[in-house]
Amino acid sequence: MAVAFPPKGLHGKTVLLTGASGTIGQAIARALAGEGANVIAHCNRAGTVDALCRELEGQGDRSFTLSGDFRSPGAASALFAGAVERCGCIDLLVNSASVFPENSLQGVTFADFQDTMAVNAWAPFVLGRALSRLSGPGAGGGKAIVNLLDTRIVGGDAAHAGYILSKHLLAAMTSMMAREFAPAIRVNAVAPGLMATDSAEDGGAAAEMAKNLPLRRSAHPREVADAVVYLLKSTSVTGQVLYVDGGRHLRESAPERFAAL
Ligand SMILES: NC(=O)c1ccc[n+]([C@@H]2O[C@H](COP(=O)([O-])OP(=O)(O)OC[C@H]3O[C@@H](n4cnc5c(N)ncnc54)[C@H](OP(=O)(O)O)[C@@H]3O)[C@@H](O)[C@H]2O)c1
Repeated sequence: MAVAFPPKGLHGKTVLLTGASGTIGQAIARALAGEGANVIAHCNRAGTVDALCRELEGQGDRSFTLSGDFRSPGAASALFAGAVERCGCIDLLVNSASVFPENSLQGVTFADFQDTMAVNAWAPFVLGRALSRLSGPGAGGGKAIVNLLDTRIVGGDAAHAGYILSKHLLAAMTSMMAREFAPAIRVNAVAPGLMATDSAEDGGAAAEMAKNLPLRRSAHPREVADAVVYLLKSTSVTGQVLYVDGGRHLRESAPERFAAL
């Protein structure tokens, strides 16, 4: 008996992308539009994503912008409702928005912790749950979520304690949602590392640090976007974390080789 494969690509799919104005967020938005998806591009501060949307529309792609500050209770639910009202249906969700405050375990305050958890973990969870409610338990497959983590969930980063904890929580949520939302929704994550930049503004510091990575190179935001697209399209993959980090997460297995990371 012939096996029926689902159609390839993201043509005609509607994607809600949070944090679309970010460095990686913009690369994801361009990659999604390049795959033929309709992109609902979220940002925090109204206007930060307008130029990107004009660029996508100029290429004949359909995109919409919505803003919302996830530190406010109810902002993520309101965003989802606004996106459904605008587009009628959401097929795919990419949770890329995040805050990256500097704080140590000794110094982190309740307010820091609350804001970081609200943006980096609670909002992705609320949006994912809203997608599952929209889909219903008996819905067919085809829907997918990708959460953006950070390679530092392996090994840590003492200077960004609240952030790392929020990404650990999001990793746990990815696994729990993958189990609970199957078969209607696949849930995966991408864990980026140090990003290569196109500009010389950082004085080559990023390139210098990349020399200590196992692969001797850091990833470009486009490579993170490619990983997101792969996971959105891969109909048999769920509950996975894909590290796009020049191999940085491997340092735990050979710390003496990668001590400088
Ligand atoms: N870039 C890296 O080197 C790197 C490395 C590892 C992991 N990551 C992860 O990859 C993802 C994408 O990174 P990125 O480089 O695109 O991040 P980014 O450049 O810092 O952008 C952050 C995004 O989140 C939005 N945002 C900030 N505060 C918010 C709030 N209170 N409520 C709602 N949205 C808010 C911002 O919107 P506005 O612009 O409107 O403020 C922006 O779109 C993040 O989850 C990040 O943790 C990034």
